Amino acid sequence: MTCIKKIKSNIDMWLENYFENKGTYNKKIYEAMNYSLNIGGKRIRPLLMILTYSMYKDNYKEIIPVAGAVEMIHTYSLIHDDLPCMDNDDLRRGKPTNHKVFGEAIALLAGDGLLSEAMNVIINYCSYKDIEAIEACKVIFNAAGTEGMVGGQTVDILSENKEISKEELQYMHKKKTGAIIKSSIIAGAILGKAPKKDINDLSLYGEKLGLAFQIRDDILDVIGTTEELGKQAKKDEIDEKTNYITVYGLEKCQYLCEKLTDECIDILNKIPKDTSKLKEITNTLLYRKK
Ligand code: IPE
Ligand code: IPE
Ligand code: MG
Ligand code: MG
Ligand code: MG
Repeated sequence: MTCIKKIKSNIDMWLENYFENKGTYNKKIYEAMNYSLNIGGKRIRPLLMILTYSMYKDNYKEIIPVAGAVEMIHTYSLIHDDLPCMDNDDLRRGKPTNHKVFGEAIALLAGDGLLSEAMNVIINYCSYKDIEAIEACKVIFNAAGTEGMVGGQTVDILSENKEISKEELQYMHKKKTGAIIKSSIIAGAILGKAPKKDINDLSLYGEKLGLAFQIRDDILDVIGTTEELGKQAKKDEIDEKTNYITVYGLEKCQYLCEKLTDECIDILNKIPKDTSKLKEITNTLLYRKK
């Protein structure tokens, strides 16, 4: 199987080229979309999709457009998450946030543009592929919508300065961040034509990994530095955000992350395929510094 670094560089290349030479009077919007898309995201979601797909097929370049579309959706969610009406952040991926550079109206449109472009990419992909492609893309867009990321973000915003139940907190994290991560893994499995049993196992793996990812994000907000993170540290505290840290405390969060990671590895161990790369990325995410 190809190494993770090589796959990431192919994803980066596809994303860097995607908006090249586009636009006329609307060139500014491409500039804004490109700015946030190509300033150093970890590309975790496309990587997870491709690594899962590669357990079943050895032609991952075929699905780079789908993986790239997920990164567009994720980047749109970040641009909007940073807007003054949401988390009001000035720094993202180590650079000024989109609205700081282009103004709020263009930043809003850049998010809209990335979501719409993701739809274009996916419809084009599906138009010459089989039913599995449609199934996989359905999973992705469900995860992006009101029953997924948008739903979780809604609860996040409504929970500021407020105590919420542990159930609601878990809902928020599973949806705002977990949903797209989980859907990337399921989509990779469906596109790879994995057996139903494996898709079910990978779906549970994705659910646990997605939750662990957002708990780690909450931990990093407390223990990380702005320089390391590329976004402002201690921001959740400043905004009085309800998150895993405010409900469980740092130590318990670290324990929960480790426990979820162990459970992820156990699930991967049960799948009769080469899951070594997924295990590698799962362990890396537990200790990530950004
Ligand atoms: C940040 O996502 C926002 C969350 C959903 C926690 P990432 O940590 O994947 O950020 P990038 O894409 O690497 O910038
Ligand atoms: C964001 O969660 C989840 C998204 C859907 C973008 P956060 O608000 O915690 O993400 P950061 O910390 O700003 O990256
Ligand atoms: Mg937020
Ligand atoms: Mg935020
Ligand atoms: Mg955060």
